[in-house]
Amino acid sequence: MSGTPLRDVISLNPLFARPGENTSAPRYTLPPDPMLPETAYQIVHDEAMLDGNARLNLATFVSTWMDRWADRLYSESYDKNAIDKDEYPQTAAMETYCWRMLADLWHSPDPAGAIGCSTTGSSEACMLGGLALKRRWQERRRAEGKPTDRPNLVMSSAVQVCWEKFCDYFDVEPRRVPISLDHKVLDGWELDRYVDENTIGVVAIMGVTYTGMYEPVAQIAAALDDIQAKTGLDVPIHVDGASGGMIAPFIQPELAWDFRIARVASINTSGHKYGLVYPGLGWVVWRSADLLPQSLIFKVSYLGGEMPTFAINFSRPGAQVLLQYWAFLRFGFEGYRQVQQATADVARHLAAEIAAMGPFELWNDASDIPVFAWMLKDDPARAWTLYDLSDRLRMKGWQVPAYPMPADLTGLTVQRIVVRNGLGMDLADRLLDDIRTQAAYLDRTGATSGESASAFHH
Ligand SMILES: Cc1ncc(COP(=O)(O)O)c(C=O)c1O
Repeated sequence: MSGTPLRDVISLNPLFARPGENTSAPRYTLPPDPMLPETAYQIVHDEAMLDGNARLNLATFVSTWMDRWADRLYSESYDKNAIDKDEYPQTAAMETYCWRMLADLWHSPDPAGAIGCSTTGSSEACMLGGLALKRRWQERRRAEGKPTDRPNLVMSSAVQVCWEKFCDYFDVEPRRVPISLDHKVLDGWELDRYVDENTIGVVAIMGVTYTGMYEPVAQIAAALDDIQAKTGLDVPIHVDGASGGMIAPFIQPELAWDFRIARVASINTSGHKYGLVYPGLGWVVWRSADLLPQSLIFKVSYLGGEMPTFAINFSRPGAQVLLQYWAFLRFGFEGYRQVQQATADVARHLAAEIAAMGPFELWNDASDIPVFAWMLKDDPARAWTLYDLSDRLRMKGWQVPAYPMPADLTGLTVQRIVVRNGLGMDLADRLLDDIRTQAAYLDRTGATSGESASAFHH
């Protein structure tokens, strides 16, 4: 081979036998020298192969499938930075089209007077919603000459971790209303024990992460109306519609949970969940522009023009915004309705079949978002747990997590399935076959893994 250029040596060599592939790649220090892009590609590609199969991941709410037109648009736009609104004014315009459509979908009384923006996901959107609540409360209290050092936010103990983070990062006391077998979600019961003059708002979740159940926003608002009548406190609601914000409008259109309820100040959703877009996109919309204090909006000039910005991130991908606008155009209301209904049908079918298997009892039946959780019925003869079943299903490629419920119910273990567009009825039936087979296997053998045995004791 002497005299042959290195590149030819490498491209002639059989794959996996050429320099760089027949040695271990460094993990924690930068390699001293470059390698060919195809060799680096192969190494990264191969390691990523060890990840789970995204379509069989029934733990995530986040989209794992879009069609080839979306893929094409994505590959045409992955270089766009959403913050460069001066450079990419049409991306910025499409962002506005999207949140205006959401304001309309969520029954804003005046979509043109609403205000909203895209974010990296619901976590960032919730932070922005929470910050607006906090700042409005602070400004009102200051105007009244009252102290502003002890804000609190009232929410269910089953909130998603982003609300815990919001409270921790932004010095707000979280007031958690525990869920129980009688009150499976925050429903307004005894709310007056939690709300006081320092309450910046109440979070109502449309699609509790643990179980998929809706919190009754209208009932929570009615409880707050009572509190206002008695105490004069006017407490706003932020609806965390991370999942349900893109389900309820289509398959439960009669359910009033959104801006139809006057007390709802702001709503977030994840474009990358039931908005049907790949990961990296959330939305938050305020009923009217005055609910987003101007003091939270920064103006920057270094991108050209004078750009108002209210977000935690600065740079982030703009492609997802284009994908969301594409999805809104491609599906329209009727298309979303069909997709969400088909997803809900699969979830309800799975829930009904799992309930009929015998050992399991449903916590909920997927009648809200296409998500449901179940428990094991008490049976002293059974020597396995839902953690064991989760392990066994994992061996078949399915990721179906088991976990403890939140505060006051931590002794209760549930297992949950999130059905997304991409889990069709036929594939769902294969999952049911596997659950039946693996439960029967565990009945014969009992708990097998040390990890699940410890989880059992936990
Ligand atoms: C109710 C709720 N809120 C917020 C979030 C956070 O959303 P994201 O993953 O888009 O940041 C989730 C995620 O599962 C959720 O279920």
